[in-house]
Amino acid sequence: MQRMKPILFTRGVPATESFPAKEMAEAASAALEQHGPALLQYGPSPGLAFLRDWIAEWKGVEPARVLTGNGSLQLLEFLCLVLLRPGDVVVTESPTYDRTLTLLRRHGATPVGVPLEADGPNVEAFEKIVRARAPRFVYLIPDFQNPSGATCSGAKRRRIAALAEELGLLLVEDAPYRPLRYRGQEEPTLFDLAPGRTLHMSSFSKLIGPGPRLGFMLGTADLIVRLARAAEDTYISPSNLAHGIAYEWCRRGHLPGQIERLKALYAPRLDACLSALARYMPEAETTRPDGGFFLSVTLPEGVDNAAVRSAAEGRQLQLADGRAFFPEAGGERFLRLPYCALTPEEIDEGIRRLADSVRDLQKTPAAQLVSH
Ligand SMILES: Cc1ncc(COP(=O)(O)O)c(C=O)c1O
Repeated sequence: MQRMKPILFTRGVPATESFPAKEMAEAASAALEQHGPALLQYGPSPGLAFLRDWIAEWKGVEPARVLTGNGSLQLLEFLCLVLLRPGDVVVTESPTYDRTLTLLRRHGATPVGVPLEADGPNVEAFEKIVRARAPRFVYLIPDFQNPSGATCSGAKRRRIAALAEELGLLLVEDAPYRPLRYRGQEEPTLFDLAPGRTLHMSSFSKLIGPGPRLGFMLGTADLIVRLARAAEDTYISPSNLAHGIAYEWCRRGHLPGQIERLKALYAPRLDACLSALARYMPEAETTRPDGGFFLSVTLPEGVDNAAVRSAAEGRQLQLADGRAFFPEAGGERFLRLPYCALTPEEIDEGIRRLADSVRDLQKTPAAQLVSH
């Protein structure tokens, strides 16, 4: 029998065919010619001044409010280093980005989850939790959330921003997927709504590629100084060579065209996912994102994520453990489907295999469904 090609619905990585390698090669040589010493020397810990200026202008803020670093995840680590003490509470959506949960736990914090709905966190639960638990900060992914694909409505953003002002909360808004909207209207960022209470973080990982490790944060100037000190004590200065090349690529005006190319590549992949789910799993409860990298499926009652993963493995389909995205208990029936790095044909085939795996389990006696 011919071996089936493995399909990986596990990692939220960009499509390799999206990388602007030729433009980056040209930018690399120009950047080294123009800024060689700055790119090859240690530099300021918040990042190259011309790059911070460029991001500041793009985002409409003062350069002193911009911090660049080696990926946004490490900037979040600096925030944990600066702010968290063991036992602190951090409020997140439930589910949320699994690597953030790992970081919070590594710093001794207790993540407390607010149930996530199709249009963002349940705001009644959010209000109750932030009033009762006095979190050190609140971590939210309002646009095309990882892992669910949900986007927070404008009304919920305004409610959250108002609560942040009232209670003096620090909101950490993680928005790497925001530029990748395939349809519908953009909502304001939390940073737009509560600029003095929000630390906005984003990244070029999903725009150029993860290789340059260029992430950034926008915050109050005093918090940026504190984070830059943690950066200096960790790596002295960020990767100026990679960041200088990315800067030159941006300066040449490539970003808007690249975002349009990404949308043209990824929108049909999202559509392939939605139509395969409608065809092979019409009964499945799924999110219907308007952009980003992910959608999510709630498995039918009685069908466990772990059992589906092992059934899917037999069909050369790899799935992530849904429970990893939940700050507290839960996720037994949660499945994240990252679709951007797969072709529409692979997506169709992957979802067909997923539907077959789920159907097989539904035929199995209930006692065998929960695998450990
Ligand atoms: C929500 C979210 N935040 C942060 C990151 C990490 O981004 P970076 O590559 O900038 O560290 C990711 C990567 O997948 C992500 O999904």
